[in-house]
Amino acid sequence: MSIILKTPDEIEKMRVACRLAAEVLDYITPFVKPGVTTGELDTLCHDYMVNVQGCVPAPLNYAPSGYKPYPKSICTSVNHQICHGIPGEKQLRSGDIVNIDITTIKDGYHGDTSRMFLIGETSIQARRLCDVTFECLWKGIEQVRPGASLGDIGHAIQQHAEGAGFSVVREFCGHGVGASFHEDPQVVHYGKPGTGVVLRPNMIFTIEPMINAGKAAIRALADGWTVVTKDHSLSAQWEHTVLVTETGYEILTVSEGMRPAPDWVGPANR
Ligand code: MF3
Ligand code: CO
Ligand code: CO
Repeated sequence: MSIILKTPDEIEKMRVACRLAAEVLDYITPFVKPGVTTGELDTLCHDYMVNVQGCVPAPLNYAPSGYKPYPKSICTSVNHQICHGIPGEKQLRSGDIVNIDITTIKDGYHGDTSRMFLIGETSIQARRLCDVTFECLWKGIEQVRPGASLGDIGHAIQQHAEGAGFSVVREFCGHGVGASFHEDPQVVHYGKPGTGVVLRPNMIFTIEPMINAGKAAIRALADGWTVVTKDHSLSAQWEHTVLVTETGYEILTVSEGMRPAPDWVGPANR
């Protein structure tokens, strides 16, 4: 496997697919309230992607080797669920935190993004975990420029998460993305500065830190997909798809309703 540098034409298609993925999150936001089931959110997102946007929901029937086909169109990971939560009958309740992860395919290219949603009144710890994880995403993004390494990204994320008393999930990572859902390189969310793959213009990959309030250890559920914290502590995740430009980065998963970058991110790079 090797890293696919994208052509200008492919980059334009990625901009479209990525914006559509972010716009699904904007669309679903007002529905993410106490009492809604994750299955209802899945149906709403599915219908919006297919009937309004003319996209294919990439998760539906996605079956990487060793996995059975994913049965739904989005991932909904609630509280101690880390990632790949399968939508179902479960109703969201006040106090829950949920990650909604959307991947669209438009014109053969994938856009991949996720956000955290806070349901009703949440604990101070839950809010802090979601905020620190969002900051971790941006600590990683800020490292992106030609000549930087993947280790720079991972280190920045790990420092911020562990500095806040949280832990970084090791088994799942960001990834190259384009005509395929998951491409090289693997973008891990921990590491040492100056190590690993060196970034070049026209690479496109996700950064999607999964941060646990407790220990880093994970457990896989019997459904074959859902991943939870072994200690049942809360977990949060935010994801953007990012292009390496000549001078830095461009966030591709942009929309009107996206959470703005933290204040400390330089305006030139937003
Ligand atoms: N969207 C996830 C990611 O960020 C992957 C989900 S795979 C699925 O890489 F099959 F669970 F949808
Ligand atoms: Co991803
Ligand atoms: Co995703």
